[in-house]
Amino acid sequence: MKTKVTVVGAGNVGATVAQGIALKELADVVLVDIVEGVPQGKSLDMNETAPVEKYDALLRGTSSYDGTESSDIVVITAGVPRKGDMSRDDLLWINEGIVAGVTQEVARRSPNAILIVVSNPLDAMCEVARRVSGFPRERVLGMAGVLDSARMRFFIADELNVSVENTHAFVLGGHGDTMVPLPRYSTVAGIPITELISKERIDAIVKRTRNGGAEIVGLLKTSAWYAPGASTVEMVEAILKDKRKILPCAAYLTGEYGINDLYVGVPIKLGKTGMEQIIEITLTDDERAALNKSADAVKELFEKLKTGVPVGV
Ligand SMILES: NC(=O)c1ccc[n+]([C@@H]2O[C@H](COP(=O)([O-])OP(=O)(O)OC[C@H]3O[C@@H](n4cnc5c(N)ncnc54)[C@H](O)[C@@H]3O)[C@@H](O)[C@H]2O)c1
Repeated sequence: MKTKVTVVGAGNVGATVAQGIALKELADVVLVDIVEGVPQGKSLDMNETAPVEKYDALLRGTSSYDGTESSDIVVITAGVPRKGDMSRDDLLWINEGIVAGVTQEVARRSPNAILIVVSNPLDAMCEVARRVSGFPRERVLGMAGVLDSARMRFFIADELNVSVENTHAFVLGGHGDTMVPLPRYSTVAGIPITELISKERIDAIVKRTRNGGAEIVGLLKTSAWYAPGASTVEMVEAILKDKRKILPCAAYLTGEYGINDLYVGVPIKLGKTGMEQIIEITLTDDERAALNKSADAVKELFEKLKTGVPVGV
């Protein structure tokens, strides 16, 4: 049977993920959205791209969940962005309802799938998917760290005028203003950036990384999709090809980094069974304090969730 990935939400991010999976011939894709016509139209458009781009991956658009059965991976991008006078909490509850509903539908049809959550607020939506699916933490992960570190990698490459391929960046913590970019562990061809870039410029890169999402929203009036889409595809590829790649992902911690029962961005080993290991690195007191502050911000959101099961169960 051919590998199958379901992508729920055929908006900017979802469609980019579907296209990335097809371009790399990683799997056939079922693209689901509540807006009738959109997933069908985008899938047809991408199927018609296949002869030109030379990929043999079939996309199918649908507004029901029929056909998503036995997916290997389900990517959840469904949700609404913040509008008008909507508060962050309003957004939290609207997307909580959407992600809970989506999770229920996909988990029932694909009980062995690995869930990759993209919808915001990311860490809280991962928790909703974990609670509703009942899947083990190894199979419910969130995409944020790959994106945040890709942004930082680009800023480092741009600063030093070197290939982006030479750069590695390390970002821990929740996906929000409190994320923790770690210059000490960020390198260019193996050399820590602290040896290559002045403290002042590193501080500017760290600040720009933290504001990376907001910088794009300021320009586009909506959130990014090319880099978020590509980052999600990197996770999908690591799983389907069993690469055991170390990537920063939102993972449910049960004591690692001294954090309990919360989704926080940490480096994990990603392979065919999902999260195969959480990599713990030594932190300075300042870095640990920043990570704890980030975890506290995630905890505050978790406490507002309405999804049945109490935190920590
Ligand atoms: N984790 C990250 O780093 C990251 C990065 C970018 C965007 N995001 C988040 O990803 C989500 C999607 O962003 P986007 O730019 O693609 O938004 P978008 O508005 O373009 O797409 C969202 C899609 O979800 C669909 N949808 C809504 N409710 C649904 C439901 N119940 N079932 C199926 N589909 C449903 C909508 O019809 C829409 O097509 C947002 O929550 C955004 O904040 C996260």
